[in-house]
Amino acid sequence: MTLEIGRISDAVQSAHRDNEHLAGGTNASYIPFLASVDPSLFGIAVVTVDGQVVEAGDTGFEFAIESISKVFTMGLAMEHVGADAFHAKVGADPTGLPFNSVMALELHNDLPMSPLVNAGAMSSTSLVPAVGAEDRWRKILAIQSAFAGREIVLSDEVNASEQSTNFHNRAIAWLLYGGGAMYSDPMEACDVYTRQCSTLITAKDLAVMGATLAAGGINPLTKERVVAAATVPHMLAEMTMEGLYTASGDWAYTVGLPGKSGVGGGLIAVAPGQLAIAAFSPPLDPAGNSVRGQAAVAQVANALGLGLYRTPGA
Ligand code: DON
Repeated sequence: MTLEIGRISDAVQSAHRDNEHLAGGTNASYIPFLASVDPSLFGIAVVTVDGQVVEAGDTGFEFAIESISKVFTMGLAMEHVGADAFHAKVGADPTGLPFNSVMALELHNDLPMSPLVNAGAMSSTSLVPAVGAEDRWRKILAIQSAFAGREIVLSDEVNASEQSTNFHNRAIAWLLYGGGAMYSDPMEACDVYTRQCSTLITAKDLAVMGATLAAGGINPLTKERVVAAATVPHMLAEMTMEGLYTASGDWAYTVGLPGKSGVGGGLIAVAPGQLAIAAFSPPLDPAGNSVRGQAAVAQVANALGLGLYRTPGA
């Protein structure tokens, strides 16, 4: 099914208009920088697998990628170690607990369970083949840039804010090391993971990144192959299981598309073979997902009839 661009545009404009004044949620406060971002910012972008772009609102504002970075590092690490070995080392099941839960580690012998929680993300970062922190960082930044189709850069301000407050993640990194699920120096993995969360992207970038997944690993704007086609289904499956943390099941029930959120306020949903829908709005719900972002992306997906679990007539 190919969606007509006018229909996509109507859905995006309506979702922006209908959710612009949606109240609720608060900016993430445990990272000082994120607390200071204007909570009224709101943008929605769609990019199709044939490279068409539709935007509404603040789609040019640069915000911190945060946990959405976990998806791209997952792909990078998986391609290095192989899908089966990655599965065995990091896992693919939801923890049922918050993204930075230490209890999840306690319950599972200090093993991460999922590459999309902080523990599994640091484990994935440690699996990227590298000779040191700078080499590891260069590779991760390169894959973010390839997915976005432009040079993505670190925000020194976000990074400084995170590096000076990331003690909880450092503790998780050491627990993983104790459990045998950390494959580099744990503090190097935590440092580089923190940097990968501190890059700046726009809602439009996010839609391009998602559309690259929707297109089976080829960036629809640059035409560059970023990851192998065989890698993408694993990434999308994991987004379904853990992309919105403890709300991942609710998201599958109501929207039915693989998604991923970040505490910077970004959210992406991928309709395989068709398009990606991205939104940015900083106020988050208690699970750490953008309130307006979820409402807007759900509205666009449902208006376009995109849920993966829809059968004919549903
Ligand atoms: O490690 C952290 O806590 C942040 N850098 C990222 C967490 C995050 O985005 C969770 N997503 N909703």
